[in-house]
Amino acid sequence: MAGHLLLHSLLLSLPLTAGWTASNCLVTEGSWLSLVSRFFHICPLDSRLSFLASCTQVTNLTQALEVVPQSVEGLCLAGSISILPQDAFSNYPGLKVLGLNLQLTQLLPGALRGLGQLRELSFLASPSKSYLFLHPNAFDDLRSLQRLNFLGPCLDRNSSVQLPTSLRWLAVKYSCLQDVGELDDIFPDLAHSAFSGDARTLDVLDLSFNRKLKIASPGALQGLRLGTLYLDHTKMEAAGVVSLGLQRLDKLSVSFTVTAELPAEAVAHFELQELDLGSKRIGQITLEALASCHSLQRLGLKNSGLTELPPNFLAAMPRLERLNLDSNQLQSVRLCMNETGLVSGLWTLNLSNNGLRTLPPATFSCLPHLRELLLQGNQLVSLDSQVFQDLWRLEILDLGRNPLVNLGEGWLAPLPSLTTLNLLDTHILFRSTWGSWGPESLHNLRLQLPSAPAGVALSLPAGLTSLELHAVPGMKPRKLFPSVFPILQNLTLDGWGLQLGTQNISEIFPALRQLTLLGSSLEALCSQDSFNFFLWQLPRLQSLKVRGDGHSPRPCCITGLPSLQELRLEILEYRARPRPVQLKELVGELPRLQVLRLARTGLETLSAAAFQGLGSLQVLVLDWEKGLVLDDSVREHSPQMPQYVYILSSSLACQCANAWVGPWFERSPRSYIWVQSPQLCRTESRDHSKNPLFPFLLNHCPDTLELELFLGSSALLLLLISLPLLQEARNSWVLYLRALFRAWLQGLRCRKHEGKNFLYDVYVSHCRQDQGWVVQELLPALEGCPPDDQGLRLCLPERDFEPGKDVADNVADSMASSRVTLCVLSHQALHTPRCRLELRLATSLLLAAPHPPVLLLIFLEPISRHQLPRYHRLARLLRRGDYCIWPKEDEEKDSFWAWLRSRLGQPGCRQMGCR
Ligand SMILES: *[C@@H]1O[C@H](CO)[C@@H](O)[C@H](O)[C@H]1NC(C)=O
Ligand SMILES: *[C@@H]1O[C@H](CO)[C@@H](O)[C@H](O)[C@H]1NC(C)=O
Ligand SMILES: *[C@@H]1O[C@H](CO)[C@@H](O)[C@H](O)[C@H]1NC(C)=O
Ligand SMILES: *[C@@H]1O[C@H](CO)[C@@H](O)[C@H](O)[C@H]1NC(C)=O
Ligand SMILES: *[C@@H]1O[C@H](CO)[C@@H](O)[C@H](O)[C@H]1NC(C)=O
Ligand SMILES: *[C@@H]1O[C@H](CO)[C@@H](O)[C@H](O)[C@H]1NC(C)=O
Repeated sequence: MAGHLLLHSLLLSLPLTAGWTASNCLVTEGSWLSLVSRFFHICPLDSRLSFLASCTQVTNLTQALEVVPQSVEGLCLAGSISILPQDAFSNYPGLKVLGLNLQLTQLLPGALRGLGQLRELSFLASPSKSYLFLHPNAFDDLRSLQRLNFLGPCLDRNSSVQLPTSLRWLAVKYSCLQDVGELDDIFPDLAHSAFSGDARTLDVLDLSFNRKLKIASPGALQGLRLGTLYLDHTKMEAAGVVSLGLQRLDKLSVSFTVTAELPAEAVAHFELQELDLGSKRIGQITLEALASCHSLQRLGLKNSGLTELPPNFLAAMPRLERLNLDSNQLQSVRLCMNETGLVSGLWTLNLSNNGLRTLPPATFSCLPHLRELLLQGNQLVSLDSQVFQDLWRLEILDLGRNPLVNLGEGWLAPLPSLTTLNLLDTHILFRSTWGSWGPESLHNLRLQLPSAPAGVALSLPAGLTSLELHAVPGMKPRKLFPSVFPILQNLTLDGWGLQLGTQNISEIFPALRQLTLLGSSLEALCSQDSFNFFLWQLPRLQSLKVRGDGHSPRPCCITGLPSLQELRLEILEYRARPRPVQLKELVGELPRLQVLRLARTGLETLSAAAFQGLGSLQVLVLDWEKGLVLDDSVREHSPQMPQYVYILSSSLACQCANAWVGPWFERSPRSYIWVQSPQLCRTESRDHSKNPLFPFLLNHCPDTLELELFLGSSALLLLLISLPLLQEARNSWVLYLRALFRAWLQGLRCRKHEGKNFLYDVYVSHCRQDQGWVVQELLPALEGCPPDDQGLRLCLPERDFEPGKDVADNVADSMASSRVTLCVLSHQALHTPRCRLELRLATSLLLAAPHPPVLLLIFLEPISRHQLPRYHRLARLLRRGDYCIWPKEDEEKDSFWAWLRSRLGQPGCRQMGCR
């Protein structure tokens, strides 16, 4: 029916009525995924997808999907369903990534029908505990599928599943494979495409974490052209890969396998470009093995128990670009040999977490192409000024976590290309020469604030774009030199060790976009008055992250940052003397703020006042906050609340002040609200039993609630309507408010006098221009010529209003004394202030009255939803069948009158209104 369509589109289209919640499903946009990523960890979803949903505890798929918007591109389902029904996802044709952690036992053809755009499909289950039977044609509909992941379930060996030709990535991990040859039974066309008969090409085949996998049947993957084969955390011997019959293999990853030596044969056989070994069993590398490794471009030997490298290590691998020796037991590096005159093309060398104590002058002399040198986590105490002599292309140097004390005079001078330097967690002493900090190209510096005699300024390169400074507790604040950092964008301060005026901070850091304050550094940037607020006025700052140490003396209000888009406050609670914090003590005027994330801030009360300064807020995340109270004023503000509200690992206080929150979550006017943990109330009784919070509050706080509901909703309505009313009819909002209050009082009285009879059956709200229709059509049909004297009593403003009374009083009184309010709507009506006022009154009565009157709408002509004022609450409250369109054709008019009479009921039932 046209009417249904209208209301349907009305509900769907109003931007402010998008309010909903779905307790089992978390919905977010890709750009906000990082804020809630821990609830998506069961499925690998991608932040480039625009709209994502993750549902847990799914037991009925139809039911679970009812609350998932059809426009999601990524969907993750966890629960217990053994078989997917046919066309389970046909409502989601745009789905690109789907993850199913459902304890599925079977996948039949047709279950995934309609997912022609699906790019990635994952089946998840507890590792090797359950079997998933795949029908041979289960994936037939997935024309665009590129990645197929089985993470956990065991696959039936004789399934003979056909793989989509578009497939580039197949993962069977945490499963029960014992022999690579089983894959050939499960996916017979894995090696040879069923369609062309040609060998297939895959970018990745990932068989890692099959803890029992140890056999490589000869020819199991005959002909397959493969980019990367992952066999990590299996019992495979890397050498066995040779017999699989692969036509091509570029990269092999075999860390944490039984492999005990460099798989020279495999490297030579495939001319591998990349090899990841990594296993304590290796211990050392022999020259013989190295001899066949000339094809390698990248070699990973992380965690391989190496104590030394063989001589000529680099000479054996002339193409090597990346070498990772992280986490071995190397005490010295002998990569460059004097006598050979060898020059290596190595780009990246990772020597992190070894036992290096010294670096002889010529250590890197044969690496003129090196771009990245990672030396963090070693035992280096000093650096010879010659050691970086030949690294004139080096861009990234990481010396963090070394007990470095002495750095040779001008030690950075040989590094003209250096852009990034890490000196965190070192013990470097201050040197006056640091004013001429090496190369001009240096723009990214991480530094432990060096200790220095009092009064000496800390001199830094002026061309920095990114700076991280860690202060030692108790150190004297240092002045900064130079006094202006014209292009510094990112600043991270851990602890406070700087002596900086706050008045001209925007001149010192004119380009600052991102500020991270760790430890106690926020305190130093906060005024010490009675009202504590953030002192750094940075007009360009876009992101501010504060992670305290849980010892803050008092909250600090972040305010006055006109460009700030993202604010994260963490661990600011006061461990010694916990005190409840109000949101307005944490945030002030931040007009561009889109994301606010609060975690362990000790926040208790959220009130509308705090949101007033946050006009652009789109996402609010409350994480690890206890005993939250959503002040009633938030409800008034709810049309302006952020679009996404996530309450994670947090609890709402069991207080009557929160009683309104439950219903609001169900149908908030704008926000998507997700409360992660079940909210409980602990009762006073002896057994300390726990009750679900909202039902408990609704039962125990009834009286206050009703008054609050009234105040809240009427105040909200006022907020919504006062502006247009002011424009339309000066001062009428005062009348309106009075009328509203009277109506409410009458409603209360009505309750006291149960069974009261109404003066009228129907109050007809219409405007003068529509009077013709009311008099000629409506009155005769309802009032006049009743077949058996059963006519309804209508109240018409022109006819039945008390003369002399003002309009608003008359409207309120007449409505209150009518059983049903009937609004006649037309284009003209919507342009007449009084008609709009009446419609608003009816709406507010409906919301505010303890016993809502019945409201019916008649549209005299189809009205485009764009012409309707924003009666969002009205639209939500109207049920199906509470409105109708006056038909143009005569033959349809009978059914119109039948509808109206049935909705108006019989005149004899007048006392029904006051139950
Ligand atoms: C699943 O939910 C739908 C809709 O709520 C219902 O119609 C259907 O009967 C349910 N199915 C089962 C198996 O319970
Ligand atoms: C798979 O093969 C086994 C024996 O190899 C057989 O018992 C079983 O019925 C087969 N399963 C299916 C689904 O064909
Ligand atoms: C390199 O040669 C010089 C002299 O030519 C010698 O002093 C030095 O020890 C040699 N270094 C290495 C690592 O062999
Ligand atoms: C080098 O080692 C560090 C420390 O484990 C690691 O974080 C980094 O990713 C490694 N870099 C490369 C290029 O392998
Ligand atoms: C600043 O930090 C952000 C996020 O960490 C990063 O994307 C950006 O590249 C950094 N800018 C500079 C100049 O280092
Ligand atoms: C900031 O103000 C201090 C004194 O308040 C002054 O010494 C310093 O030069 C000023 N810095 C800039 C960049 O204007």
